[in-house]
Amino acid sequence: MTALEARHTRELNFTEIRRGLQALSSLYVERRDRLPGGSVFDGHGKRAAFALYYGILHFLTVRAVVRELGDAARVRSVCDLGCGTASAGAAWAAEAGARYEGVETSGWAAGEARFTLSALGVSGRLVRGDLMTHVLPGGGAGILVAWTLNELDDAGRDGFRARLLDARRRGARVLVVEPLSKRVAPWWTAWAAAFPDARNDEWRFRTDPPAVVKLLGKAAGLDPRERSARTLWLP
Ligand SMILES: C[S@@+](CC[C@H](N)C(=O)[O-])C[C@H]1O[C@@H](n2cnc3c(N)ncnc32)[C@H](O)[C@@H]1O
Repeated sequence: MTALEARHTRELNFTEIRRGLQALSSLYVERRDRLPGGSVFDGHGKRAAFALYYGILHFLTVRAVVRELGDAARVRSVCDLGCGTASAGAAWAAEAGARYEGVETSGWAAGEARFTLSALGVSGRLVRGDLMTHVLPGGGAGILVAWTLNELDDAGRDGFRARLLDARRRGARVLVVEPLSKRVAPWWTAWAAAFPDARNDEWRFRTDPPAVVKLLGKAAGLDPRERSARTLWLP
């Protein structure tokens, strides 16, 4: 986390990253229709805010979830679909001692993901590509789709669900993570019904992120210490 902070504060000051965070959170909450166009990563401030703020929070959240899931989450490899900067998937891989594979359309995010793996000492590879067509692994693998399904359109998400079920039948364990907000994931109930034997959890954690994350959150009117998420877990 210290290395991540140094990397992103080298060229941008606090105000620039704070502005980026406000723009990002407005995209995620009010202007969601613009997400599929890739406008999340179209400016230096937003990129730094995504890597630093959401990256650290997604890392802390997924690490806490995986710890709660216990031995069943001890997979041999983690396939992280829509991996962003890899913080969520690398948290799972580091906990499990697993090999990592990330799939991501954005070249910038894939570059950041390489930095995350190296900083955490997680071995693995990045694939620049579309999660909709990536060949999914089977037995021994964990498949993670974290804060990404809500960026797909309804038809794409439904088609992808069938592929996840198939990977599950071939022995993969699947973890889907989304925000608790019904507005962001109105399709959650239908997904939970399609995986009737999945563990369906709502999490609320109190985390203690680094000072820079707390300061950024405070300045942007967000509280990074109160974390929540919902997950579907198919062990
Ligand atoms: C909100 S971010 C979440 C990133 C990461 N999973 C995390 O938890 O921090 C969503 C990511 O999914 C990627 N993405 C969206 N659609 C994708 C697709 N069809 N194939 C691969 N990546 C995709 C975006 O580029 C973005 O990096």
